[in-house]
Amino acid sequence: MNACELAATHLQSPARRYDKVGVILEQNGRQPQRLIPILQAVQEEYRYLPEDVLTYVATGLDIPPARVFGVATFYSHFALEPKGKYCIRLCDGTACHVKRSIPILEAIYRRLGLSAKRMTTEDMLFTVETVACLGACGLAPVVVINEEVHGQMTPEAAIRLIDEIEQQEKVQA
Ligand code: FES
Repeated sequence: MNACELAATHLQSPARRYDKVGVILEQNGRQPQRLIPILQAVQEEYRYLPEDVLTYVATGLDIPPARVFGVATFYSHFALEPKGKYCIRLCDGTACHVKRSIPILEAIYRRLGLSAKRMTTEDMLFTVETVACLGACGLAPVVVINEEVHGQMTPEAAIRLIDEIEQQEKVQA
């Protein structure tokens, strides 16, 4: 789903907006003990967990909304704010940090006009996050863009990846 389609999702009538959530609930047998996989599937669909959708999930599972919000806020994997189409995760675990992950982060921030406080570009194309060890220390420093792992990164190589994505998006527009 691209940024425009995502925006359109938010403008859909409530019934349509929740169609996909209803399917996810059904696929999980409306079982409250399946709450985490349900939230994972919902996040895959929306790229984050909108508040109204969490309430809908609670109603669908017949559990208190506080329980759903509690789980959604407990796990750092879940996002309560919208994310960009491309999520750039820069590892700042020990191995990556020693191999100079921070200059890569600074270069990405500069290139996209972002910071630790403002993590998503206005056009909703990129979100930049730092994460703890991604389990690929042999490739340090590591950047993951969506599910794709890029090892032995440099600031220049990271900027090139962003340039390529932007080019690709322009071609597809
Ligand atoms: S510290 Fe970065 S992948 Fe392990």
